[in-house]
Amino acid sequence: MKFFIDTANLDQIKEAQDLGVLDGVTTNPSLMAKEGITGKDNILQHYLDICEIVDGDVSAEVVATDFDGIVREGEELAKLHKQIIVKVPMIKEGVKAIKYFSDKGIKTNCTLVFSAGQALLAAKAGATYVSPFLGRLDDISTDGLQLIEDIRLIYDNYGFETEILAASIRHSMHVINCAKLGADVMTGPLSSIDGLLKHPLTDSGLAKFLEDAKSFNV
Ligand code: G3P
Repeated sequence: MKFFIDTANLDQIKEAQDLGVLDGVTTNPSLMAKEGITGKDNILQHYLDICEIVDGDVSAEVVATDFDGIVREGEELAKLHKQIIVKVPMIKEGVKAIKYFSDKGIKTNCTLVFSAGQALLAAKAGATYVSPFLGRLDDISTDGLQLIEDIRLIYDNYGFETEILAASIRHSMHVINCAKLGADVMTGPLSSIDGLLKHPLTDSGLAKFLEDAKSFNV
């Protein structure tokens, strides 16, 4: 399972990268705005800064919603750096653009996916990644994990190579449950990765080992 961090915060990206388990980064316009990144040049530079920190895929989202605009923005983003994955919303013009990018060998991440039907369309269009937003489904009392399970079944039935990128992860149990269901990738906040580390028996066990090691006189 690949671990992506869902943030545009460079310090958090560095911290996750330093742990040695980070495979990539996902961003979106809200995450960029949260970091105060504005203006096209600054936005493009920020993507380059992220690519400098991590070795893996970095999703950069288009904001156009018409086919020509999505293609124009996506091609510019793809040219920026080889690690950039063009993030395209699940709308009709987006599906057309994903097919266009796929035919041209440009990698995509189909975002804002909330149903199995949308995920099927994204795979048919040749998306590299599909991003079902499980936390936002949970927020409206709909089982986000069930969607991951459904997409896994459908993709396996037909051998679709589109990777399931479980997005809108909110906590470590989401990560564990997505791993059990066979999601290819998860993207979440740093806290969802850090949470995997924690267990009180590890802490108390280590404290006891260190206490007992004092008798070694080393
Ligand atoms: O980047 C897309 C997705 O992960 C957003 O998550 O927490 O805003 O629902 P969230």
